[in-house]
Amino acid sequence: MDNLPVHVGIIMDGNGRWASERGKKRSEGHKEGAKVLEKLAKYAKEKGIKVLTVYAFSTDNFKRSQEEVDYLMDLLIYYFNNKLDKVAKDGIKVIFSGRREPLREDVLEAMDGIVKRTKDNNKCILNICLNYGSQEEIVDASLKIANDINMGIINREDINRETFFKYLYQDLPPIDLLIRTGKEHRLSNFMLYQSYYAELYFVDTYFPDFLEPDFDKALEYYASCNRKFGGVKEDNPNRLKKKNN
Ligand code: FPP
Repeated sequence: MDNLPVHVGIIMDGNGRWASERGKKRSEGHKEGAKVLEKLAKYAKEKGIKVLTVYAFSTDNFKRSQEEVDYLMDLLIYYFNNKLDKVAKDGIKVIFSGRREPLREDVLEAMDGIVKRTKDNNKCILNICLNYGSQEEIVDASLKIANDINMGIINREDINRETFFKYLYQDLPPIDLLIRTGKEHRLSNFMLYQSYYAELYFVDTYFPDFLEPDFDKALEYYASCNRKFGGVKEDNPNRLKKKNN
């Protein structure tokens, strides 16, 4: 496909509603969501997408019931040690964005394990935002910059909108396409710096139902966008109306 995004971000929303509408526990929705992520990571790699960033757990998600937080953490450990590990063996490098504190020791161990086992892979990067908040990330980056200036490691003049990326949790290219499933139209503290010129694609489908053909529709939408970056560019002949499904 022409005009493939380099970096796709996904806010995987709607797991809880998917489950409730089927009379199931919220945890069932997260389990289905995890299966979908496993498929999409593989699919994105096959398509030639270089970076896929997904929102697995925000700093604010700690406000959920202890039962749900524990379930999600156990699910993540299982995926890092088993399912995603298998997918990753196929060339995907797994990395994380977020604060380590106050994640459980067993979660940190599973994260470190999959990072280590996949560090030499180079087909695609799966960046998992876990205990992540974008404002927190920008604050943490600013503190690192202040520290480096104080220590004489860099000069104030070295900091600009490009070099700032190096101080974020991961130094990745900007997000080109940002997908949010599950009906809501907001960013929820996700990759605010990196999404500065992202094309936004909101879809009503709950994440557990967001499969490869739905991902393709988002890519088609992206391919049709006029990416002007504040400049002027002729209209893209493939330009589509954004569809909601
Ligand atoms: C948002 O849906 C989803 C989450 C907070 C968790 C996302 C996690 C997964 C898809 C699990 C797998 C992740 C990995 C990395 C293996 P929600 O619970 O807010 O849904 P709701 O808005 O319908 O309540």
